[in-house]
Amino acid sequence: MKKLAIMGAMEEEITPLLEYFTNITKIEFAKNVYYEARLGNLDVVIAYSKIGKVFSTLTATTMIEKFGCDTLLFSGVAGGINPKLQIGDLIVASKLTQHDLDITAFGHPYGFVPGGDIFVNTDEKLREVALEVAQENDIKLIDGIIATGDQFVADQKRKDFIYDTFKADALEMEGSSVAVVCDALDIPCLILRAISDTADMDAGFDFDKFLETSAKESADFIIKIIHKLK
Ligand code: ADE
Repeated sequence: MKKLAIMGAMEEEITPLLEYFTNITKIEFAKNVYYEARLGNLDVVIAYSKIGKVFSTLTATTMIEKFGCDTLLFSGVAGGINPKLQIGDLIVASKLTQHDLDITAFGHPYGFVPGGDIFVNTDEKLREVALEVAQENDIKLIDGIIATGDQFVADQKRKDFIYDTFKADALEMEGSSVAVVCDALDIPCLILRAISDTADMDAGFDFDKFLETSAKESADFIIKIIHKLK
């Protein structure tokens, strides 16, 4: 690993990372800001994409193709589906899917388009590192399925659909698109999320209340992973 990309979707998700690094250089590209920093011998590029699959695809691709990043870590928050995941708990994605990808009218399953797969995998070695970090620091970390879509889910019926269809443990709005980019470009990636809400009728309220603290849980864990990787 020579150059590490660390991305989030919202400013709150990368603020704790920017506060951790010193000597940051700001670069503007494609209507976004990329922050370059160094940790020992490791070059790091940090950015938040803005919310959703389109912006996160653009940012992940830019970090790899323009900035030359060869490993990508995503840090942020998610809505919990698995009842074992409480607000503040961490999940690392073993595989991800797009829950709003729907060409079922043509007989295809939800999440599938020809030439793609329903699920995209993440890097097993990075996931193992994350699980080791969790164990060493006595931090609860669930290894599970994440479903991504361009919608904030605050509805029990939609949440149930996502669980019934994909057996997803958590849902958010960027992980799957980032993982698809990394898979296509052969870049190892890790998608880490801390739960900010449980995607039900209270989700909007909980999200606003817990975004900052859960984003920091995730970012602090990412910093531990970086130290283990470098
Ligand atoms: N990210 C965090 N909570 C979410 C939710 N309920 N829906 C979509 N993305 C989220």
